[in-house]
Amino acid sequence: MSALRGTHFLVRPDLRLTRRRRPRRDDIVPVSGWDGFRQSAAFPRVIRSGVGSQRMNRFWSPLVGTLSPYVPGEQPRRDDVIKLNTNENPYPPSPRVLAAIAAAQDRLRLYPDPRASELREAIAGYYDVAPEQVFIGNGSDEVLAHAFPALLQHDAALLFSDVTYSFYPVWCGLYGVRHEEVPLDAAMRVRIADYHRPCSAILLANPNAPTGIALSRAEIEAMVREHSDQLVVIDEAYVDFGAESAVPLVAHHENLLIVQTVHLVLSSIAVVR
Ligand SMILES: Cc1ncc(COP(=O)(O)O)c(C=O)c1O
Repeated sequence: MSALRGTHFLVRPDLRLTRRRRPRRDDIVPVSGWDGFRQSAAFPRVIRSGVGSQRMNRFWSPLVGTLSPYVPGEQPRRDDVIKLNTNENPYPPSPRVLAAIAAAQDRLRLYPDPRASELREAIAGYYDVAPEQVFIGNGSDEVLAHAFPALLQHDAALLFSDVTYSFYPVWCGLYGVRHEEVPLDAAMRVRIADYHRPCSAILLANPNAPTGIALSRAEIEAMVREHSDQLVVIDEAYVDFGAESAVPLVAHHENLLIVQTVHLVLSSIAVVR
């Protein structure tokens, strides 16, 4: 119930909402914490009989009971804290970004191009790859969420390091992907020699998170060559903080998938041969 700490703003429960009767400012009532939320006269019927109640539990699939949820870091409710560890930016978006969003306002009511052709072409031009090699997602978590069931679910184990992005084991649980964790060395580095073992695929964050230590492009290429019958996925979420991107390698290796994210602006992309 920690999500219900603090003050919450609820729509008055007696309000009959229709398409025409949308909530107005004075229809919103503040309540404090979980108790306030539960006891409040404003406690909406939908919460009483819905997700917030125990009754909903009976609909959960057996899989849900086996999952360990990803635990997000603390989000202080203060405006004077910039959480660099969750990639918060001390700067606002570029005025050019704001102008582009404003210019697109009228199109936001329409479905976007499902192939995101314009964006893929722009990204392909930037990275010097073909548009067909670019896959767009809504953040790299979503791109990875497609990659796990589509590419990483095999009989043999997926390998990733024992200290890395804590979402990987969560996706494995959700998608039933067998995995083995490969220990980092004493200096908290990924040693590519430790990945010489049978596996279905390898997933590496480069630079690794949260160590920030990166493999060089030459080391990645050595790994990709050595595992030419397995897919190697390089999660480059933090590459712009100081690592060589492996994107130029996709021109020479068809077992390489690179996942990058450009928070808030371009969302997330994957580049493959
Ligand atoms: C290594 C790594 N990959 C992927 C992500 C997810 O990025 P996105 O916000 O684009 O989904 C994160 C976010 O913390 C990350 O640390």
